[in-house]
Amino acid sequence: MTTGPDTTHPDPTRTPGGGLRTGVWLIGARGSVATTAVAGCAAVAAGLQPTTGMVTETAPFADSALPALGDLVFGGHDTATTPLPKRAEALTAEGVLPHGLPDAVRAELTAADDAIRPGGPQPGDTRGDDELIDAFAHDLDAFVRTHRLARAVVVNVASTEPAPAAGGDRLPPSSLYASAALRAGCPYVNFTPSTGLHHPRLRGEAARSGLPYAGRDGKTGQTLLRSVLAPMFAQRALPVRAWSGTNLLGGGDGAALADPAAAAAKNAGKARVLADTLGELPDGRLHIDNVPALGDWKTAWDHVAFEGFLGSRMVLQTIWQGCDSALAAPLVLDLARLTARAHEAGLTGPLTELGFYFKDPDGGPSGLADQYTALTGFAARLRERS
Ligand SMILES: NC(=O)c1ccc[n+]([C@@H]2O[C@H](COP(=O)([O-])OP(=O)(O)OC[C@H]3O[C@@H](n4cnc5c(N)ncnc54)[C@H](O)[C@@H]3O)[C@@H](O)[C@H]2O)c1
Repeated sequence: MTTGPDTTHPDPTRTPGGGLRTGVWLIGARGSVATTAVAGCAAVAAGLQPTTGMVTETAPFADSALPALGDLVFGGHDTATTPLPKRAEALTAEGVLPHGLPDAVRAELTAADDAIRPGGPQPGDTRGDDELIDAFAHDLDAFVRTHRLARAVVVNVASTEPAPAAGGDRLPPSSLYASAALRAGCPYVNFTPSTGLHHPRLRGEAARSGLPYAGRDGKTGQTLLRSVLAPMFAQRALPVRAWSGTNLLGGGDGAALADPAAAAAKNAGKARVLADTLGELPDGRLHIDNVPALGDWKTAWDHVAFEGFLGSRMVLQTIWQGCDSALAAPLVLDLARLTARAHEAGLTGPLTELGFYFKDPDGGPSGLADQYTALTGFAARLRERS
C-alpha cells in the first residue's frame, strides 16, 4: 500500500516498482468492513499476514495484471469521525483484527484517514441532490489528483439503507454517491444491498457513462452457503419444500439491520439465490436479529426441508459462525482490484462475471460453481488484454 505520490518516476501515476497507483474510495470508510480492508491490505502487502480469503491472489489471477496490493491508495466518505487507527484498535479489542496489527500498520491507517472526507447528507444539510453529487464528485477528483492516481474505484461499504419509497423525489444517499462516481469518471462497486446505481433515475446515466460497475451486496456467509447448496438440490432432483433461516449479529451492521426496512432490503437479496436456482421461492422465512453482545460475529442457521424418492421427508440443517468483517474485507479488495483492471482494459457496463461475489448480481449464473467458472473466464479475458 502506498502512502504518498512518487515524484521521481517519469509517469507520475506509476509507483517506483512500475505499478499503477490505484485509488480505492470507500463509502463508509470508517466502518468495520472498511477498516478491516485498509488494515488487512497494509498487513498483507507488508508480508505480515497471509492472503487467506483473497481469491485474486490464487493461481487463475496470476497473470491478469491486477493492481498490486501495495499500489492501492485508500480514501473515502463517512459521516462518522472516529479516526481509522482508533476504529482498528476497537476491532482488535473485539478480536476481529489480530493484536499488534493497528500499531504495525498505523502509518497506512493514518494516511487513509487523512484522505477521508465528510459524508452526507447530514441532518440539517439544505443542499439539493445535484449539489451533493457535485460535492462528492469534487472530493473524488481531488483524491485522484492529489495522490496522482491512474484511477479510483468507488466501493460502497456504508450502512445498509432502507429501500427508497416509490415515487420519492430525493435520491437515497447510496445513489448520490453512485452518481458522483459516474460524474467523476470512476468505476463503481456496491458491496451493500442499498440502491446505489439500481435507482431508476441512474440507469440511463450508468449505461451512458462508459464505466464498468458491479453489485450488489457482498455474498459472505449464509447466502454463500445457499448458493452452493441450492444447486445441489436442483441438480439431484430433490424438491425443497421449505428453506428457513435466522441470523444473529451485532456491530454497526446488526444495529442498521434492526430497522425492518433495512432488513427487508437485505433479505430480498438473500432470497434471490433460492428463487433463481430452484425456479421458485420455497416456503420459509428469513430473520435477522440484532444481538449487540455478538459484535462483528454472526451466527446463521438454515433449516431446509426437502423431499426424497417416494415422497420421503428429510431435513438439512446448517450453522455458520463467522466474523463478518474478516469475511467481507478480502472480497472488497478483490472487487476493487478486478474493477480497476476492468476499467484499465476498457471494459464497460455491468461486470456480470463478478456475480460470484454478490447476493443480487447484475446477471450471470446463480450457483457458486458456475459463477466461479465465469470469474476465472473473466481473469483469462483480463490476461488477454494485458
Ligand atoms: N460484513 C459482511 O459480511 C457484509 C456482507 C455483505 C454486505 N455487507 C454490508 O457492508 C456494509 C458495511 O458493514 P459494516 O459491518 O462495516 O458496517 P458499519 O456499521 O461498521 O460501517 C458502516 C459505516 O457507514 C457509515 N455511513 C453511514 N451512513 C453514511 C453516509 N450517508 N455516508 C457515508 N458513510 C456513511 C457509518 O458511519 C459507518 O462508519 C453494510 O451495508 C453491510 O450490510 C457486509
